[in-house]
Amino acid sequence: MATSSLLLVLALQLSGALAHNNGLALTPQMGWNTWNHFGCDISEDTILSAAKSFIDYGLPNYGYGYILMDDCWQAPARNATTGAPIADPTKFPNGVASLADQIHSLGLKFGIYSSAGMYTCGGKFGSLGYETIDAQTYAEWGVDYLKYDNCYNEGQAGTPKLSYDRYANMSNALNATGRPILYSMCNWGEDGPWNFAPTIANSWRISGDIYDNYDRFDERCPCTSMIDCKLAGYHCAMTRIIDFAAPVSQKAGQNHWNDLDMLEVGNGGMTYDEYVTHFSMWALLKSPLILGNDVTNMTNETLSVITNDAIIAVNQDANGSPVERMWNTPISTGGTLSLWSGSLVNNTYVIALLNTSPDAQTVSVNFTDVFIDQGPSYQAGTYEIYDLWQKDDAGAWGASVGTYTGSIPDVQIGTHQVKVWKAEPTSSVSRRDLSEL
Ligand SMILES: *[C@@H]1O[C@H](CO)[C@@H](O)[C@H](O)[C@H]1NC(C)=O
Ligand SMILES: *[C@@H]1O[C@H](CO)[C@@H](O)[C@H](O)[C@H]1NC(C)=O
Ligand SMILES: *[C@@H]1O[C@H](CO)[C@@H](O)[C@H](O)[C@H]1NC(C)=O
Ligand SMILES: *[C@@H]1O[C@H](CO)[C@@H](O)[C@H](O)[C@H]1NC(C)=O
Ligand SMILES: *[C@@H]1O[C@H](CO)[C@@H](O)[C@H](O)[C@H]1NC(C)=O
Ligand SMILES: *[C@@H]1O[C@H](CO)[C@@H](O)[C@H](O)[C@H]1NC(C)=O
Ligand SMILES: *[C@@H]1O[C@H](CO)[C@@H](O)[C@H](O)[C@H]1NC(C)=O
Repeated sequence: MATSSLLLVLALQLSGALAHNNGLALTPQMGWNTWNHFGCDISEDTILSAAKSFIDYGLPNYGYGYILMDDCWQAPARNATTGAPIADPTKFPNGVASLADQIHSLGLKFGIYSSAGMYTCGGKFGSLGYETIDAQTYAEWGVDYLKYDNCYNEGQAGTPKLSYDRYANMSNALNATGRPILYSMCNWGEDGPWNFAPTIANSWRISGDIYDNYDRFDERCPCTSMIDCKLAGYHCAMTRIIDFAAPVSQKAGQNHWNDLDMLEVGNGGMTYDEYVTHFSMWALLKSPLILGNDVTNMTNETLSVITNDAIIAVNQDANGSPVERMWNTPISTGGTLSLWSGSLVNNTYVIALLNTSPDAQTVSVNFTDVFIDQGPSYQAGTYEIYDLWQKDDAGAWGASVGTYTGSIPDVQIGTHQVKVWKAEPTSSVSRRDLSEL
């Protein structure tokens, strides 16, 4: 027990030291991106309005810091003389550097988008072959973050080496600018980026694009697993991305995260319970939390989901350790019931129960399953349990629901609901385990 804990600590430190070393994304990045709500219909005004709403709603207090401009910011062509990228002069009459300045003056960071291909997904000029001048220009403009897509890649994919070389090129170009720029790879999980990207990128997308739907199967997102998937596609429903993430969750850590794609919370395609599941599982799997709704016009319900600071604290926990799926049981009427658990700093734990079936379920959460990795003393321990989607008497998320030994018995969970608990060993258990070290 003691030995395996120490090995785990050493392994985590090692993976941190070997991860993409630009000093950024020590915890998963948080912010907002134009794409899910606005698509190509963006302008300086769209982006500045969102940044101002960030301040009005106090979102930076919760950790949201990046304002990200996705595709379709570009002019029809590069500068014919220098090859430098140019922004669309109608949408961005004052240029990108001015926009970045204004966002910085609000205390926020600014991100841009391009594709490791001949064109971007929206058909604008891509960065393949222009990595150096693009990275330099972004740095001159004051860019803090690059989302780097995979469209029109000229066939430079299909093996990890081809994908690695194409994405490492931009990673090197960003590094050479001397400006710390968070590098968010978006190659849709092709060629297994969880294996080759940790040393070159701060995060990598693991699947085709999300769409604002709970569980609909769509032929445009044809794979049932991303391991050896030959066509990542798009229109991937939210719970399908959770399934994609389950086996690769182990690959993420400090500076190098699995990106489950931008959030759809507030965009209208899912119910409150479904968005609670979406936000919770993204947080627990340590995905970047990038809002994708219209943050200038949010309902109170949307705002309450995205500002659950107990859930955000799990995402931003300094251990950087994603939850693992401990079991996943099919339900005869469809969907599954699954148990997830992970460790947090200070010898505390996070547990989630997820019901994707169409019916309510009753199940006991057995600590033998929760603490598979921690062993018998933890399995027999007593824990104070906090429900991170219940508010306590003072109105703070994370009400205590009591002390439990062996299991949390007879948990009732509605259709498409999630339960997220934090488990704190009672002091006697904590002392006993510390003395074992
Ligand atoms: C292209 O770059 C040159 C040299 O920096 C500059 O003089 C010119 O104004 C640029 N053209 C456009 C359209 O930005
Ligand atoms: C990146 O690619 C460009 C052209 O595609 C090439 O000239 C350059 O040498 C590459 N840089 C690195 C660091 O691989
Ligand atoms: C560039 O890479 C080196 C080596 O990993 C690292 O020490 C440095 O901080 C990086 N610089 C930037 C600006 O990313
Ligand atoms: C704000 O959102 C509501 C729906 O929640 C919508 O009816 C309304 O048109 C939106 N207003 C603006 C200005 O987008
Ligand atoms: C949203 O919350 C604010 C502040 O708590 C309150 O003033 C407002 O009435 C609420 N709006 C709705 C539609 O419930
Ligand atoms: C962990 O414990 C330390 C020392 O007691 C404390 O300062 C810190 O706030 C705790 N961190 C969390 C996330 O609870
Ligand atoms: C937990 O699981 C173990 C092993 O399957 C079993 O022996 C034990 O009775 C279970 N405990 C509870 C409280 O369900």
